[in-house]
Amino acid sequence: MAAHCSRCVFTVCVCSLLCVCTLDGLTKSNFEWALKQHNQLLVHFYAPLSGQSLGSILEFREAAGALKEAESDVRLGGVDVKKEKDLAASLNVTRIPSLRLYLSGNKNNPVYCPDLKSSATILTWLERRKGQSANIISNLTQLEKFIGEEELVVLGLFKDLEEDIVKVFYETAADIADLPFGVTGNDEIFSKYEISGDTVLLIRKSKPDKQFELGSSTVKTDLVQFIRLYEMELVTEYNGETASKILNSVVLNHFLLFINKTEEGFEETYLAFKTTAEKLRGKVLFVMMDVSEPRNGRVMEYFRVRSEEVPQIRMVNLSDHVQYQLPSDKFDTQTLLEFCLKYLDGKAKPKLQSESIPENWDTQPVKELVGMNFEIVAFNHNKNVIVLFYAPWSSESRALFPLWEELAEHFRENEDVVVAKIDVTANDVNIHLREKYPSIKLFPAVYSERVVPYSGKRKLKPIVTFMKKEIEKAKTDKAKEEERRKKYLNEQKAAVKEEL
Ligand SMILES: *[C@@H]1O[C@H](CO)[C@@H](O)[C@H](O)[C@H]1NC(C)=O
Ligand SMILES: *[C@@H]1O[C@H](CO)[C@@H](O)[C@H](O)[C@H]1NC(C)=O
Ligand SMILES: *[C@@H]1O[C@H](CO)[C@@H](O)[C@H](O)[C@H]1NC(C)=O
Ligand SMILES: *[C@@H]1O[C@H](CO)[C@@H](O)[C@H](O)[C@H]1NC(C)=O
Repeated sequence: MAAHCSRCVFTVCVCSLLCVCTLDGLTKSNFEWALKQHNQLLVHFYAPLSGQSLGSILEFREAAGALKEAESDVRLGGVDVKKEKDLAASLNVTRIPSLRLYLSGNKNNPVYCPDLKSSATILTWLERRKGQSANIISNLTQLEKFIGEEELVVLGLFKDLEEDIVKVFYETAADIADLPFGVTGNDEIFSKYEISGDTVLLIRKSKPDKQFELGSSTVKTDLVQFIRLYEMELVTEYNGETASKILNSVVLNHFLLFINKTEEGFEETYLAFKTTAEKLRGKVLFVMMDVSEPRNGRVMEYFRVRSEEVPQIRMVNLSDHVQYQLPSDKFDTQTLLEFCLKYLDGKAKPKLQSESIPENWDTQPVKELVGMNFEIVAFNHNKNVIVLFYAPWSSESRALFPLWEELAEHFRENEDVVVAKIDVTANDVNIHLREKYPSIKLFPAVYSERVVPYSGKRKLKPIVTFMKKEIEKAKTDKAKEEERRKKYLNEQKAAVKEEL
């Protein structure tokens, strides 16, 4: 998945281009005609090759199928804005993908569909636009049923259901098509929740969670914001059910904790994560990803997180998809909070594929490698290259730096040996690093693809001994292989001759 595959980062986007073709294509020449034909025309504006559009095309197609089956009056059409540039411009299309409902053939005043979560929400949205957007709850029995229906429901409590403010609630319900809405004026329900004035309650797992008191100045956007802000729990565990909520959150800074839930130490890290979340509600969305859940494999692959390297924490800015790695292996509240605040302040350092090649990288005894020059140096067939893979924030890593200087000094006169190190938190290298950092690997000359890991004592003498042994072994093995290859070729030749 490319980094710009945008909001389908977490979802499995198996998007086939085929689905694009099955939509009714609206063009400059047939758009006006379609408007006149259909009293209600729901139009999907998309760009076929953008990751964002592909997901919504699939959902839209599903919604189209369902509407057709229900013999709905609403007709659906799609505009490929890359092909139909003039049409898109004349309709003032700015957001892609987006949905608009054109009514009674009027192209100047469409209704904007709030978002494009799933085919089910598109359908609910259409449904709620037509009629009652919230269930009327008239007694406690009905209430019990309503609040038990879904994990999270929205309940509006109004002294008088004819008030103007109730309209604001209905409009909100119409826009937030992915949550159940109920409305009540029942006194018993007011007393049950110990509420006296007009209030919107978020009820989670049948228990009141957050409340918003309405005033005469409350407008729809206030309510939408309140609901969108608190609909998520402090920490949301990523899974098939929560994925779309996470991706469609109004909060675009996502703090991701990759962790093995069954491993020791989980509780402590999780608690620190949750405590930090409390302080940043509305600014940062806290998401936990359990690496022992096999279904999360694709997401981990996307983020290049290996289960051997957890816990790991990343910040992702969903506006530009830049990732930031927590520059620490401590996961206490203070470290987490400081990092988040630094990020929000624009001062965190992004995680890069490769740092730029440092000037003088090869003039010092220990060569400093980066993603861009790693392969050329390490897989050089004329050199024996020993590399320390380190994380700058790990004290265990840093403790090996003096040893590396010592090692470089030891091989100073030896032209065939390169002593190098690379910061793997800032540079992606294309080999499997199974162990945690720091790790040490030898890329022997003539046989560098062998990549021999070193797991002995972290002392000069044993490393030197290991290197000498492996360098010799690589030479003899390579020679043997060469021998076998020659023998094989000669046999082949002989066989051909015999046949002749
Ligand atoms: C597009 O925007 C222009 C300028 O704001 C306006 O005059 C025009 O009527 C709009 N067209 C549509 C179809 O909304
Ligand atoms: C609650 O209201 C519903 C719908 O108005 C009604 O059918 C039901 O009998 C009521 N239940 C009680 C216990 O009053
Ligand atoms: C998670 O931790 C458990 C217990 O330590 C271990 O058995 C399991 O292999 C781990 N899972 C992964 C994916 O690392
Ligand atoms: C996230 O990215 C957007 C777009 O590049 C940028 O405007 C915004 O400042 C970024 N947010 C943070 C907290 O860095």
